Amino acid sequence: MLGFFFTEIRQYVRDNMGESGWVEVMDHAGLGPKDYMNGLDYPDKEMVAIMVSAANLSGAPLGHFLKGFGFFLGGHLFNSFKPLINPQWRSLDFFENVEETIHQVVRARNRKARPPQLLCSRITSRELFIDYRSERKLCQLAQGIALGVAGYYGEEIEILEETCMHRGDPSCKIWIALGKKPEIKRVSDDDIWSDD
Ligand code: HEM
Repeated sequence: MLGFFFTEIRQYVRDNMGESGWVEVMDHAGLGPKDYMNGLDYPDKEMVAIMVSAANLSGAPLGHFLKGFGFFLGGHLFNSFKPLINPQWRSLDFFENVEETIHQVVRARNRKARPPQLLCSRITSRELFIDYRSERKLCQLAQGIALGVAGYYGEEIEILEETCMHRGDPSCKIWIALGKKPEIKRVSDDDIWSDD
């Protein structure tokens, strides 16, 4: 996974648990005092170890931690690609176009980048489905990113995950609708990675 995601999680942990919290997270993850840099690429298993360690030490279920981190990340990702984003778009237009406008560009620019496949189908002007596929199974992070992007637009969204790879489904089908309280419903936040 790209170094950008590591520097972001480091910042998120520092903001919430302080510098000593980050040191402890790295220690519990078995990674020691390692530094991460934006331009480099690091093993996925290190990111998973950091996520699990940070969730455990913060006392939050892993799913809650990932949503919180995704929310933090969403606005930063958005800002980093702002020139590619049509200023006429609102949240749902952005989600509908993120695969072609952003993730495909990311893949083309950096051959090491492996962003997930996000296939969107717009149902109405106020709702859509995102079909999320990635061997990393970070659907909870995707939900947090979606909430962060919607927050950037000043919009409220409701999210419901209808199918999930952690329950053996071939993809995570994430329904997103505008205009309700941003609350995520899911079978269980503790499911994730318990099957791996
Ligand atoms: C401007 C907005 C966005 C940018 C610039 C962006 C870019 C990226 C990049 C660079 C990666 C890392 C790939 C790697 O390290 O191999 C990534 C991963 C990811 N993206 Fe996006 N993305 C954006 C929006 C979104 C949105 C809206 C969602 C979900 C609704 C999303 C879901 C994810 C997830 C969950 C990952 C983690 C890796 C995985 O699941 O395999 N992204 N994205």
